[in-house]
Amino acid sequence: DIPEPCTVILFGASGDLAGRKLIPSLFRLFQEGHLPAEFTVVGVSLTPMGNEEFRARMRIAATQALGANRVDEAAWNVFARGLYYMTLDVSSAQDYARLGGLLGQVEAERRTRSNRLFYLAVSPTLFGEVVERLGTSGLSRPHASGWSRIVVEKPFGTDLSSARRLNTRLRRYFDEGHIYRMDHYLGKEMVQNLLVLRFANRIFEPLWSRQYIDHVQVTCAEPLGVEGRGGYYEHAGVVRDMIQNHVFQVLSLIAMEPPTSLEPEAVRDAKVRVLETARPFTPERIQAECVRGQYGPGLIAGTRVCGYRQEPGVSPTSGVETYAMLTMRFDNPRWAGVPFYVRSGKRLKERATEVVVQFKEGRGLFGSEQRERLSANQLLIRIQPHESVTLRVAMKAPGRAVRVRDMDMSYVYSSTQEGPPPEAYERLLLDSMLGVSTLYTREDMVERAWELVMPVLDAWSKEGAEPNYAAGSWGPEEASRLLDSHGHTWHGR
Ligand code: BG6
Repeated sequence: DIPEPCTVILFGASGDLAGRKLIPSLFRLFQEGHLPAEFTVVGVSLTPMGNEEFRARMRIAATQALGANRVDEAAWNVFARGLYYMTLDVSSAQDYARLGGLLGQVEAERRTRSNRLFYLAVSPTLFGEVVERLGTSGLSRPHASGWSRIVVEKPFGTDLSSARRLNTRLRRYFDEGHIYRMDHYLGKEMVQNLLVLRFANRIFEPLWSRQYIDHVQVTCAEPLGVEGRGGYYEHAGVVRDMIQNHVFQVLSLIAMEPPTSLEPEAVRDAKVRVLETARPFTPERIQAECVRGQYGPGLIAGTRVCGYRQEPGVSPTSGVETYAMLTMRFDNPRWAGVPFYVRSGKRLKERATEVVVQFKEGRGLFGSEQRERLSANQLLIRIQPHESVTLRVAMKAPGRAVRVRDMDMSYVYSSTQEGPPPEAYERLLLDSMLGVSTLYTREDMVERAWELVMPVLDAWSKEGAEPNYAAGSWGPEEASRLLDSHGHTWHGR
């Protein structure tokens, strides 16, 4: 499907996200024929520059992000004609009035039918102000016969009350149906594949419950540190940065009941409902079932790296957590008694975002004398890197005797003919222009996710985290001990 002509008004146009992800993704969509010829971007930010300089900068950014051989010269020139720029101070009412004037002019020139997509890629501390000013200047209201939508990047609030305030503000000026809360994990190929895997196969859904599943692990591990974002991270920590959003999105797709349909609201209802049954974190549960950590100095791929407290912009006595592991439990008939271990951390040994569905033991007829390297069935969904799905099953080992061992049956994405999966932002940007919100987060989901993590954040803020794992390790030992104590082991260790 090709969206109607529209203008993307990109707040934060001179920032990192715009150059690294947004413009390259929009260009790829354009180059591959997914956007109409009239497609237009009006970049706004505080940096003074003109249209030509903006176009030149975006050209460099797109080339860096995609590689020179993926930026076709002729296609870029056509795309760049639709790029405009305006210097704007987000707190100046006059600037919004000027923006309104510019939009009118550009829309007439480009024939975008006044369809407007406001994209907030600015610092989250400015979200509230931009929304308010779009509202009071009248820009949020649909203009002429066009639509008016808004995309808000994460983090959506820094706690439950700030998220609620932001939601209230957004709702004052935009209909919920026109608000798109971005979580780029939902645009990842393998995250979308979770729905297909669960609901397009007859063989998984009947087994997808406490009856057959022993436990589930969700891991988002990164070898990266805070990459110059120390100032932001000091106010965030991994629970706010990764768990409340990306990890909970993946978790809810794994644990939810089958949605009544694939319509956006049906899928989003199912995701929120399962989070509503998540057992709240009490002080006892935080003590016994959650682990936090902070990285100290160590080795990443053979190179010495500093500890979190030595990163630029980070306090030398910082108590911010760079690793967290939470044991989630769902008090519903499907999952009673099944732990979902979720973890995420910076400066871990490998990049690995994956889900492990561990089935219960039980190999029926075959006695211990016939078993060789045999564990329980396991479904491993690798979201990144090296997207793949692997099902561990028992097979007869070749030979005269009947001996049973594990074999892995895999679907490896890179071995298919389609080439690398599309960048998450491409899919999500296209959806927001098409008006499809399935892969965007709804208000109630954001708030429920905050509600769940608030007790953990409150408990942990009372006493800061100490460096307790070396960069390049798999995180604090305590997280392994916790699983050991339940007779479980982290996958990959
Ligand atoms: C972002 C976080 O939302 O996601 C970063 O702010 C993190 O800290 C990033 O590195 C991870 O995304 P991806 O797509 O690289 O797994």
